[in-house]
This record gives sequence, structure tokens and C-alpha cells, in this order.
Amino acid sequence: MPRAGVFPCCSSTKSQKPCYTVLVRITVKKDIHILMLEDDVADAELTKFALRKGGLDFSLARVETKDGYLKALEDRPPTLILSDYSLPGFNGQDALDIALEQCPETPFIFVTGTMGEEVAIETLKSGATDYVLKTRLSRLMPAVNRALREAGQRAQHRRAQEQLRESHQQLRALSVFLQSGREEERTRIAREVHDELGQALTSCKLDLSWLASKLPREQKPLIEKTKSLLAHIDSTIQTVRRISTELRPGVLDHLGLSAALEWQANEFQNKTGIRCEVRSALGDRALEQNLSTAFFRIFQETLTNIIRHAGATEVTVHLNEAEGSIRLQVVDNGRGISRSEMDNASSMGLVGMRERAALLGGTFRIGRVNRGSGTRVSVTIPLKTPAQPEANHEDSPSRRPYRGAPRDAANPGRRI
Ligand SMILES: Nc1ncnc2c1ncn2[C@@H]1O[C@H](COP(=O)(O)OP(=O)(O)O)[C@@H](O)[C@H]1O
Ligand SMILES: [Mg+2]
Repeated sequence: MPRAGVFPCCSSTKSQKPCYTVLVRITVKKDIHILMLEDDVADAELTKFALRKGGLDFSLARVETKDGYLKALEDRPPTLILSDYSLPGFNGQDALDIALEQCPETPFIFVTGTMGEEVAIETLKSGATDYVLKTRLSRLMPAVNRALREAGQRAQHRRAQEQLRESHQQLRALSVFLQSGREEERTRIAREVHDELGQALTSCKLDLSWLASKLPREQKPLIEKTKSLLAHIDSTIQTVRRISTELRPGVLDHLGLSAALEWQANEFQNKTGIRCEVRSALGDRALEQNLSTAFFRIFQETLTNIIRHAGATEVTVHLNEAEGSIRLQVVDNGRGISRSEMDNASSMGLVGMRERAALLGGTFRIGRVNRGSGTRVSVTIPLKTPAQPEANHEDSPSRRPYRGAPRDAANPGRRI
């Protein structure tokens, strides 16, 4: 308890007004607070003496009854509990059970007159930290020191785990933010590149065709030059479409996930010669944009892995809905993946896919195909996803209305 006193320090004979110095004596709060359950005053004093002699700086509350014990636990959570085993109307085991329920991290040491070995073992098994016989109080300080040290280590460990969990959550939030920002940026650039450059090139082409039609027939070199320029514009238009589609295929936003997977599978097959078949039970069903984006990006990464690592000749893709989740399975008939490859924490492609699914409350699994060679990737994401940060981008495709215009075959949904 803080103790304050007001003490006169001088008095002026002239003014007859005494001046005062206020002395505040604050008793330093002990860090270690012991709750002692002991009905014998002499035993309690002996225990305190042993603790002081051992150099422990502590405050202590002694109780004798269950009510007193419960109240003391509520009033001030103890750093350590010292309890006799047999008490009138209450027993040490009950005290231990209450402590384990109310403050499981607080070390609990029995300080008792007699305790058979079997009982001692039982109490340790049921959660007591230690026991010390009153006839051997020299053991008390080492037991207390050890208990406090271990409790401190446990608390430190718990804090470190909490910090780790918190920073993991922050990283996840950051990852969601970066991924959605990146996706929006890609969509915006894809649209700009396709619409603005595409339109500019198309009008160049029209003007050039008009010029060519006005050229006199005898101007052969000029006619040849305009022809080659027109061909050049055509190939540039194709390049613009390819870049725009690679950034974000319009088919995903306008025709849905199944169509986007089929389109991507077709591209993959044409590019690699590996047969790729998509079986979708979803039809043209519209999914939330972040869900279809996650599936599509995982699918692209999986196909890239198949090209790079599998040596496969065939890929089968299944997309379906079951129990409120959408499931994508991609199976190849290649060399298969090994356990160490699956578990490698530095495989950023696999880590990224796993994280993408986890961000939406889903799972990503990769493994060998049962019986036979090949790799199976399985992604399941619930239709109802955990709360996601708001996408506030003005150009967010989900907000921006679609302006009808002729569609580009490679990139349906985008104006030419
Ligand atoms: N379809 C597959 N078939 C065989 N091995 C695969 C397949 N997909 C992934 N792997 C293995 O898993 C590893 C990790 O993949 P990933 O994280 O995407 O890294 P990266 O493709 O950059 O090597 C690959 O290096 C490869 O050994
Ligand atoms: Mg990869």
C-alpha cells in the first residue's frame, strides 16, 4: 500500500506560515505474489522464512478455506501457489483442480507434512508442478526457482507463438491486398492495352487501306510498301491481343471459369502438344470474381509445372461443386512428384498456390496419382469465403460496367 505523509520541514518566524514537504513513501509492489493454502500458522511462518532465507522477494496471501482460496484467486492472480495437501473441509487435490481450471499456467507446489510416494506421483500426474515435504524445507527454494523459471519460459514461448500467429495473419492480409491489387492492375492494363492500342491500330489500318486504294497502279513500290505496312499492323494487333490476354483473359470475366479453363487448356494443348481435356460440371455458372481468379491462376501455375517438370502426354481437368465448395482437379500422366518435392518449403510455386487457396478458406493438395505414375493437384475452395478486404479500385472489373462492342475471339468480352 502506498503510504504518504505530510511533514513540516521548516517554519518561518516572520510569516508564521509553516512550509511543508510532502513525502510519498511507496512500497514497491512485489513481482512475485504467492498464494499460500495453509491452516497452520507456524508452518506458514516456517515456509515464509525458508523463502526469505532463499533470497526470494515476494508478497503473500495466506488462506485456509475454499472460499478464501477462490476469493484470493479472483482478487489477485498469483505467480505461484503453495498448498498443504490436507486441509480441514478442503483438500489439496481440489485446490489443484481449481487452479488448473482458473490459472493453468501458474505453478502449483504442494508443501505438505506427509505425502506417500504414490499420492505424490498422482498429484504430479494430475498437474502439480512439484511437492516439498515440510520436514525438508531446504528443498523448497530450488523447487520454487525451477517452477518460476519454467513458468517464465512457458510464458515467453506463448508470447512468441502469439507474435508469430499475429505476424502470419498480417502477412496473409498483406498477401490478399497485394494479390487483389495486382489482379486489378493487370485487368486495367489488359483493358487499356487492348482497347486503346487496339483501336488506334485498327484506325491506322483503315486509313492505310484508304491510302492504298488511292495510289495509282503504276506506283508499284508504294503499293508494296503499304501492303507490308498493313501486314505489320495486323501482326501488331495480334501481339496486342496476346499481351492483353496473357495479362488477364477477358473470357474469365465475361464467360466464367469453365470457359476460361477450356480456353487455357486449348492454348496449352496447341502450344505443347500435350492433350488436355476439361470436364466441367459447372457450365456457365458465374462465381465470385476472387474465387474464379484464384482457380484460374492456380490452373495456369499447374499447367506451367506440367510443362516444366512432368514429362506428361495427357492432362485431365475436373471442375465440380460438392458440399458448398468448388473443386478443381488436374491430373497428369507424367513422372509423378516425390515427397521431398511436395514438402519443400522453398518451392514458391506450390507455396503460392497453397496460400491462394488458404486465403479464401480453401485447401490445395498435390500428390502422386494412386496406382501408376502422374501427379494430381486438387484445390477445394468454399463458395462462402471468409471476409475479404474491400476491393476499392475504381476500375475493379466487378464494378465497371461492360460496354457492348464486337468481341475478340481470343479474348471474348474485350472490344476490338
Ligand atoms: N506436375 C508435376 N510433375 C512432377 N513434378 C512436379 C509437378 N509439379 C511440381 N513438381 C515438382 O515440384 C517442385 C516445386 O514446384 P514449384 O513450387 O512450382 O517450383 P518450380 O516450378 O519453380 O520448380 C518442382 O520443382 C517439381 O520438382
Ligand atoms: Mg512452378
